[in-house]
Amino acid sequence: MEELIKNRPIGFFDSGVGGLSVLKKAIEHMPEENYIYLGDSANAPYGVKSIEEIKRLTLENVEFLLGKGVKAIVVACNTATSVAIEELRAKYRNMPIIGIEPALKPAVELQQLGRIVIMATNATLKEKKFKNLMNEYSFGKDIYPLPCPGLVEFVENGILNGERLEQFLKKILEEASKEEIASIVLGCTHYPFVKETIQKVVGEKVTILDGSLGTVKELKRKLIRNEIKQIESEKGYVKIYNTLEEKIKLSHTLINA
Ligand code: DGL
Repeated sequence: MEELIKNRPIGFFDSGVGGLSVLKKAIEHMPEENYIYLGDSANAPYGVKSIEEIKRLTLENVEFLLGKGVKAIVVACNTATSVAIEELRAKYRNMPIIGIEPALKPAVELQQLGRIVIMATNATLKEKKFKNLMNEYSFGKDIYPLPCPGLVEFVENGILNGERLEQFLKKILEEASKEEIASIVLGCTHYPFVKETIQKVVGEKVTILDGSLGTVKELKRKLIRNEIKQIESEKGYVKIYNTLEEKIKLSHTLINA
């Protein structure tokens, strides 16, 4: 019986193609596992929607993955994690559910001089979960939360570089750049796909971090603790679903990039 659970896939979901940045990290660290990914591109972006709407969509995504027989769920979306993770854990008590949050702790631990900019969606930055994170790590630090409406859409459209994106990023980062930036935390899972362009805009000296490794480590810990981790000699499969059929091709491009 236990053996069967180990063989089941791990379910990932996001508002769109962004969570593939987390899935990619998981495959890198645990290629033996089977994965099912659901992108809800038909409803992206989540970050500008009401809390009720984000919760409703999140529940639908979880139900879809449960219907596929997953053994654990990764909420590969900072926005959905901020808004709904507590409710999800209360509702699905027997299912390991792992979320993602902006990597503020690792950024603070770098002990660099200068500003830490946290790029994320409006919803993530407004939620209590983010306020708690700030209370814990911001003391004595220059931390600049930066909502980036519009950036998710570039990634959803497969635009990861080029003049138009660079101009958009320059504009959005203009105010935050008035003080020297030490690091940028990518607090939305779509943003790692445009990391190189962000780096080009802010310069090589700025450290850019994201929360995917922390999430994958937590996933691994939970699989081990629940004794449902796949044996390492296996080679897993990856199955990608999207509520917008036309995003499947882009999803495969992103995961293989
Ligand atoms: N990828 C998402 C996140 O990590 C959501 C972006 C959005 O749909 O607004 O926050």
